Amino acid sequence: MAISKSQVINALQGVIDPHIGIDIVTQNLVDDLVIQDKFISFTLYLPDTQDTYTKPILAKCETVIREKVDKDAVLDIDVQKKTGDTPKPAPQAPAEPEDLLAGVKHIIAVASGKGGVGKSTVAANLAVSLANAGHRVGLVDTDIYGPSIPTMFQLRGERPNINTRRKLIPLEKYGVKLLSMGFLVDQDDAVVWRGPMVSSAVKQFLTEVVWGDLDYLIMDLPPGTGDIQLTIVQTVPLAGAVIVSTPQDVALDDARKGVAMFRKVNVPVLGIVENMAYFTPPELPGNKYYIFGRDGARNLAAAQNVPFLGEVPIEQIVREGGDEGVPVATRNPGETPSAQVFSAIARRVVEEVDKKSAKGETSEPIKIKIR
Ligand SMILES: Nc1ncnc2c1ncn2[C@@H]1O[C@H](COP(=O)(O)OP(=O)(O)OP(=O)(O)O)[C@@H](O)[C@H]1O
Ligand SMILES: [Mg+2]
Repeated sequence: MAISKSQVINALQGVIDPHIGIDIVTQNLVDDLVIQDKFISFTLYLPDTQDTYTKPILAKCETVIREKVDKDAVLDIDVQKKTGDTPKPAPQAPAEPEDLLAGVKHIIAVASGKGGVGKSTVAANLAVSLANAGHRVGLVDTDIYGPSIPTMFQLRGERPNINTRRKLIPLEKYGVKLLSMGFLVDQDDAVVWRGPMVSSAVKQFLTEVVWGDLDYLIMDLPPGTGDIQLTIVQTVPLAGAVIVSTPQDVALDDARKGVAMFRKVNVPVLGIVENMAYFTPPELPGNKYYIFGRDGARNLAAAQNVPFLGEVPIEQIVREGGDEGVPVATRNPGETPSAQVFSAIARRVVEEVDKKSAKGETSEPIKIKIR
């Protein structure tokens, strides 16, 4: 049978604080009680947090829970120093909605209409370039069907930890806080998600996560402009969107749909990135070959009246960086053209976000309220 909160509270009434002679429940020292299967976590506010004071009380908590609730219970007790009136009196009515993501200043979606045009590559390198420039950055991979961030950051098989309040702690690499469905499910398992599940998974990714204070949270969206993408962009208060396209017409048609989708939901388009814009053979550094066509995305940006953020060349080092988990933006901008381009794109994105916030077009600070 599932463990109930009242079972736990009743049991904890048997824990008497020996210094005061009153049980910890009557003293209102227990807060944030969370139960999941056999996992019981709560915060215990004690007047003294020295081991000599806390240890006998913690041991007694464990004994009563095992005796009266479940002998196999797993306990996670966070001891905090009781100051003034902590904890607050237990609320009788449903708690006030929490201000979640309060520390995140701007959420930016990276999207494309067409698949495989380099969204995840741009999202990863944009995040690293922003971090290189001294910003506090997070990157969330909302592509639950085909997560790429674990590979692109050499974190395949890694699992995020959870804190005592059952919130996920993002992994961190190259100065970027990272979360991906790929960290939570086996990457070789096919995951079948229906639309509403995707939206609630994404909401959880943003709100059940200890992001801390971030200047930018980048969201790598799944390819397409269907219901799933629409739901995601409506779930989150976005500062703006970066659209990625390659120069050929088939990709541009889909990128145009991407711009239209964001306009429909009143999310400002921060600009378009032309990826795989040209190729320069290493032995002919002065030559540029426009394999997929020239200036397609630049012209689309002009026609749609949105900023053009830059053109990323086709470079072997970009593909290798993605496969090996070392984004090209971790390299010195002087080392290779794409590293330089990504750092310039990051600067332009910052400028565009600043312009949009100055005009009051973005929601700032971001507040998601959930009940
Ligand atoms: N400028 C580039 N030069 C060389 N290779 C690139 C470049 N941009 C992307 N690639 C490579 O192209 C492949 C597809 O890129 P990526 O996974 O970023 O696309 P995507 O749009 O996120 O795909 P999906 O739609 O499946 O999510 C990857 O192997 C990546 O390394
Ligand atoms: Mg991708």
